Amino acid sequence: MAILPIITAPDPRLKTISRPVERVDDDLRRLMDDMLETMYAAPGIGLAAIQVGVPKRVLVIDLSEEEGVRKPLYFVNPEIVDAAEEYSVYNEGCLSLPDQYAEVERPSEVTVRFLDYHGEPQEIHATGLLATCIQHEMDHLDGVLFVDHLSSLKRNMILRKLKKMQRLAETG
Ligand code: NI
Repeated sequence: MAILPIITAPDPRLKTISRPVERVDDDLRRLMDDMLETMYAAPGIGLAAIQVGVPKRVLVIDLSEEEGVRKPLYFVNPEIVDAAEEYSVYNEGCLSLPDQYAEVERPSEVTVRFLDYHGEPQEIHATGLLATCIQHEMDHLDGVLFVDHLSSLKRNMILRKLKKMQRLAETG
């Protein structure tokens, strides 16, 4: 397994609409393994393939809070087939927007259809943080970042802060 470089905003690749996966094969499983390793190393709780520069509709998520216990979830070609009318708010962050956080409102529960690590069709009903995390990662597949859910004022503030941090990192 390999740790891959994570693309950060405002890299235009993050605006890519990712393509559906045609076949879940060993190459795709290797990509998912690498994505997971990259996510754990960051560390983060979710990662979409486009964040490592691969425009495929693939996500990995692990919300396990127990130290040393990994509970990876793999989503290939995920689709939301049902969403709650109620909304919940989470303070979201993103590995592509390092150290930036903002409250985002999303449907509190979603039913998601996808293919798993072995290419088997699955359906889950997600609530709480998992519902938010899946929706956040699925946004990446359509070139949407969490800041795109904010007012332009808030979004520009975050993007300016990010640029300033990147400049400091380059000169520092
Ligand atoms: Ni993200």
